[in-house]
Amino acid sequence: MTVFKPGYPPGQQMSTLQLLWFALTQKFDGLEYAFVTSETFGPAAYSEMGPMKVFQFSDPDLIHEVLVEKAAQFQKGNILRRAFVPFLGQGLLTSEGEFWKRQRKLAQPAFHPRRVDSYGDVMVAYTDRMLDSWNTGQTLWLDREMMKLTLGIVCKTLFDADVSEEADRIGDLVNEVLEFANETIADPFPLPEWVPTPRRQKLKAAMTELDAIIQRIIDARRQSDADRGDLLSMLLSARDDNDQGMSDKQLRDEVMTLFLAGHETTAMTMAWAWYLLTTHPAIYDRLQAEVDTVLAGRAPTVADLAQLPFAERVIKEALRLYPAAPGANRQPLEDTTIGGYPVKKGVELSLSIWAMHRSERYFPKPDQFDPERFSPEREKEIPKGAYLPFGGGPRVCIGNAFALMEARLLLVRMVQRARLELIPGQTIKPIQLLTVRPVNGIQMKVSLRGTSPVVGQTVQGAIPELA
Ligand code: HEM
Repeated sequence: MTVFKPGYPPGQQMSTLQLLWFALTQKFDGLEYAFVTSETFGPAAYSEMGPMKVFQFSDPDLIHEVLVEKAAQFQKGNILRRAFVPFLGQGLLTSEGEFWKRQRKLAQPAFHPRRVDSYGDVMVAYTDRMLDSWNTGQTLWLDREMMKLTLGIVCKTLFDADVSEEADRIGDLVNEVLEFANETIADPFPLPEWVPTPRRQKLKAAMTELDAIIQRIIDARRQSDADRGDLLSMLLSARDDNDQGMSDKQLRDEVMTLFLAGHETTAMTMAWAWYLLTTHPAIYDRLQAEVDTVLAGRAPTVADLAQLPFAERVIKEALRLYPAAPGANRQPLEDTTIGGYPVKKGVELSLSIWAMHRSERYFPKPDQFDPERFSPEREKEIPKGAYLPFGGGPRVCIGNAFALMEARLLLVRMVQRARLELIPGQTIKPIQLLTVRPVNGIQMKVSLRGTSPVVGQTVQGAIPELA
């Protein structure tokens, strides 16, 4: 039911009973809900759903006001904290205040542009290892392949650890954790945290296994005592004002956060970029022509990326249509206003990047896959702040440059060495499982292109086992 509360933007109202009925009889589709809310009520909407009071903003100025101008007045939203804290603890994504500031400062050097550039060779070498295991005529689940690839890359670059043997199992565990988080977000009537529901029992088992993997990475480094100059070394050598290092628990939370935040998002961006390319052959051909002309068969390096502008536009457009993190949630610490609307302490703010990216208000023909939106001339026409795949303000994605470089290098190397074809007849539908995932996965058929690593050329990655 539409509701108009004086001074508030329009939105929906559901009684607790209606909400309970809805939760029991229907599966909540967060992406569809955000989009329909934005299209029906506009870029500012206020809804009261049973006990929940939620503002949804999908307007660049309103989102800027929350994330940038009034950032200090907000913390991460309650729903998100409930979903994340049980498995991420107090890592970068979930911590707040002075503690978060200190941890962010500590991690920042690992994401310095020069440092990120140095990860490029590992990214290409790992892609080669994946492509070497593929065969012409093979059908594979592309989303799973991308998860394994990006997981391997984040572990190697940030923690100098090789998890290739365990990648499948880690993928299953991560899925279980994300399903828990997603169900928690969609559950309007959560039981108290101490109640051991079957879902919580499953999460506990998955977490125990994931924790053991992460602890092994930390222990191996502690024992070797070597400073490898990577993020893990930075975290291990960090000292507070009292010369105290991080506790095992804190290290575990930071490593787990980067482990999860650092691979799933890029993997899904790659899966969606491939889905878009294989359903738009003319764009795919244009990208392949650019790659073949610029690289002439040799492996890409970070320095080549400047000569591959179309590859960048494809990734940016894939991130517009399928922003891997489709929104951000916040809660005001005190009563405040946004866009002149009264926003009371504790109310939930849902900032929908998904709805904004798909709105005709900011992007003409929003459903169309058109990488040329990001050509230098046309990119200027995009309203300021309307394209926000990495969020904004002080809590902007720390892995922004890492992800954009990784996605371009992986895409270029894959285009160069394989031709992919979407298996027909699949239902490809995005679903919000924290990140935007294809609900049933994406199956592709592979044809290798015969430009496997150029004879005599080795990729200069710091991966001894590939040499
Ligand atoms: C295409 C890939 C990616 C997308 C779309 C993405 C998106 C985002 C967004 C929107 C946020 C802000 C969330 C908020 O404001 O509540 C965020 C935060 C974060 N991201 Fe990413 N991300 C990506 C890749 C990565 C990578 C590769 C890493 C690490 C290697 C990473 C690590 C983080 C961390 C640690 C935060 C929390 C930062 C803080 O609060 O200080 N992300 N990401």
